[in-house]
Amino acid sequence: MKQLPLTYGPSSHAIHAGEPDNDQARAHVNPIYQSATFGFADVGQGRRLFAGEEQGYIYSRWHNPTVEVIEEKLAALEGVDLRRADANRAVTGLAFSSGMAAISSLLMTLLRPGDTILTHGGLYGGTSELMQSIFQDLGIQRVLTDLGSPEVVEAAIRAADRPRVLYLESPANPVLDLVDIAMVAQAAQAHGLKVVVDNTFATPILQQPLALGADFVVHSTTKYLNGHGTTVGGIVLGTDGDFIHHDLWERRKLLGGSPSPFDAWLINQGLKTLALRMERHSANALTVARWLDTQSPVARVHYPGLDHFRYHELAKRQMKGFGGMIAFELQGGVAAGTVVMNTVQLCSLAVSLGTVDTTIMHPASMSHAGVPREQRLEAGITDGLVRLSVGLEDVEDIIDDLGRALGKI
Ligand SMILES: Cc1ncc(COP(=O)(O)O)c(C=O)c1O
Repeated sequence: MKQLPLTYGPSSHAIHAGEPDNDQARAHVNPIYQSATFGFADVGQGRRLFAGEEQGYIYSRWHNPTVEVIEEKLAALEGVDLRRADANRAVTGLAFSSGMAAISSLLMTLLRPGDTILTHGGLYGGTSELMQSIFQDLGIQRVLTDLGSPEVVEAAIRAADRPRVLYLESPANPVLDLVDIAMVAQAAQAHGLKVVVDNTFATPILQQPLALGADFVVHSTTKYLNGHGTTVGGIVLGTDGDFIHHDLWERRKLLGGSPSPFDAWLINQGLKTLALRMERHSANALTVARWLDTQSPVARVHYPGLDHFRYHELAKRQMKGFGGMIAFELQGGVAAGTVVMNTVQLCSLAVSLGTVDTTIMHPASMSHAGVPREQRLEAGITDGLVRLSVGLEDVEDIIDDLGRALGKI
């Protein structure tokens, strides 16, 4: 597999890292190993492979060469800043069949009954539901806390029963709240907690949490990493190779959340243009956010790139760009939002995000419908909040579409 010099940038890694360089047919684009199982030369080789005395492929729920390409590539991308600071700290990754499979498998590897997971309000609805339902049944408690200062984080840790993991999203889904990753990582690790960051909204192009001190990064590769909306997938990345390739790999093998080779191949095709796409997503979103900010039916715009956004200074410090996600509240609440979402033509009314086209949706009735209303409101997810994933279309066309819809209110 190709590995690039540490000095090479993210676009070069996105295109070349992890690509096979030993294909027998000298295929220019990596082939898909669409095979459930792999043959043994003889019984002796089968025995040696199972015993770990020889390296090789056995069964695709365990390992698959096409899946390993995206694991290598994303490890290279999440590790660009870290390896520039410390060339000895390698990042490694394990891909999953969905973002939820990645998140649940990682947390089930880190936590035991009686442990507490500390987190904040406003996480992706599925993650929030996982912690409140399945984890609660397993005896794992979730404690919500503000992550705004080290003192508050430390007080929450001291008050919790066997706190083991601090889990966060930054920017968070859907209101784009930011957390100072370096600050909370330092506070939590001082008490022995592992820090997990969902980096789905930012991608490694705009933010690299491992370099900021996090222990693990998770992604829904379904979003920007694939970029074209053709697969559901996830990945866990970190610097503890032993934990990832033994403990976590064992969970993937036995819980069965391994990705399909074809999905991995599609994700790899998307990854090659990630840096370019994130640049355009960010530029388009900034233009749309500034325009929304001037529209009278719009009460409030949440976007890290706006000067008045409460996390703007942190975003400038912690991120390399502001991303493609915007949330906005309409003066007319749910009724106005319904008119806008039913009127747009260029934007697609759909959940998910990070695709080349612009998508629009209503968190309260869609992605966060499973989160109790009070908890939702506390996290700023009001009934009238609209979430926009700004795509790569010509930005004036996105504005034209939204302008027509706002005019119908
Ligand atoms: C921030 C975030 N994390 C995790 C997930 C879950 O990923 P998946 O749908 O790939 O399981 C999502 C899905 O919307 C998400 O937005």
